[in-house]
Amino acid sequence: MPLAGKRILLVMSGGIAAYKSLDLIRRLRERGAEVRPVMTAGAQQFVTPLAVGALSSGHVYTELFSREDEQDVGHIRLARDCDLIVVAPATADLMAKMANGLADDLASTVLLATDRPVLVAPAMNPKMWAHAATGRNVETLRKDGIAFVGPNAGEMAESGEAGFGRMAEPMEIVAAVERLLDDGTKPLAGRTALVTSGPTHEPIDPVRYIANRSSGRQGHAIAEALARLGADVTLVSGPVTIPDPKGVKVVHVEQAAEMLDAVLARLPADIAVMVAAVADWRVATPNSEKIKKQPGEGPPPLMLTENPDILKTVGHSDKRPTVVVGFAAETQDVESNGRIKLQKKGADLIIANDVSPETGIMGGTRNSVKLITSDGIEAWPDLSKDDVADRLAGWIAHRLT
Ligand code: CTP
Repeated sequence: MPLAGKRILLVMSGGIAAYKSLDLIRRLRERGAEVRPVMTAGAQQFVTPLAVGALSSGHVYTELFSREDEQDVGHIRLARDCDLIVVAPATADLMAKMANGLADDLASTVLLATDRPVLVAPAMNPKMWAHAATGRNVETLRKDGIAFVGPNAGEMAESGEAGFGRMAEPMEIVAAVERLLDDGTKPLAGRTALVTSGPTHEPIDPVRYIANRSSGRQGHAIAEALARLGADVTLVSGPVTIPDPKGVKVVHVEQAAEMLDAVLARLPADIAVMVAAVADWRVATPNSEKIKKQPGEGPPPLMLTENPDILKTVGHSDKRPTVVVGFAAETQDVESNGRIKLQKKGADLIIANDVSPETGIMGGTRNSVKLITSDGIEAWPDLSKDDVADRLAGWIAHRLT
């Protein structure tokens, strides 16, 4: 649920569009938000606090000087105890009060006392919206950092007059709320990412295969870290024993050729992080039956052929993602081999690590990496694979913005 745990204070002022705010409350709550309504006296002329309270399933705040309300939360806490204030509908009068710092009822007092972001959905007669005074107030509010959604053009419910002034539709307001609450916290919202992870298994016969020691821990952690930053992530994983990461679509494959097909089928994407330890070779013609020992003949020869290079294919594709990241598993000359891979594979970043057995990195939970880009080399300290993943996701977000 995109708004899970988010607390929204909904200020409703007096306009016929208040009926649309009933639907807005429902839509926000469907997405997991908690909605606390504040109604002006004008709003109560159009919809009743009873209806608003039934939909928000909680108390509706209407009075500045109500002893009961003040004991419940208090107007200052009401103003601050939320993630966002949405003013819908916002009348010309309420906007004028906001622009001038007036505080003569609960709604305007809350709006003056808040330190939270505010989103305004204006609703008024087109002539009122077009008036120079409203224009000045809107400009002042924008300068004060207030966000707006709408108004839209259309026919007015009460007068039949056409022009700008109709309140934005509930779903447009919801989208604006999601954008505002995402900003800053989820820098990869709206981005797609493709991650490969784990080893590949290349069959020799129906029971045997060529494999390597990759656990998939680093790739899986990166997929999850990118998702935490808001990216829409697909993980193409080779055979691993660890669970699928949270918040990520997972495609399970066995062999390099299948991994390549799965990756290419999901381009275009904004981000590609190729972490899989893809087998460089496969058996040219795997036996369809289990290979048996033949008395007196010795071991069977294994004829190998090269596998496709997935990172290189993606890095040189005409659908190349904006950010392409590869790994370089090395046991010697980590930096110079990493630099060569950056070039050869068409990557923006190579994360080089020393996978000599004494480091314990391959199959382990920690990683010690060097970041190689065309700008130079940066060494990160010894970190857990989860921390490497978080830092890398941050690096990618920074690079994309
Ligand atoms: N890679 C890939 N497909 C391959 C081989 C490697 O996508 N067939 C990717 C890996 O996911 C990694 C990068 O290429 O991001 C480097 O992998 P590595 O095994 O270090 O390099 P190789 O290209 O296999 O080169 P070499 O074995 O010669 O070191």
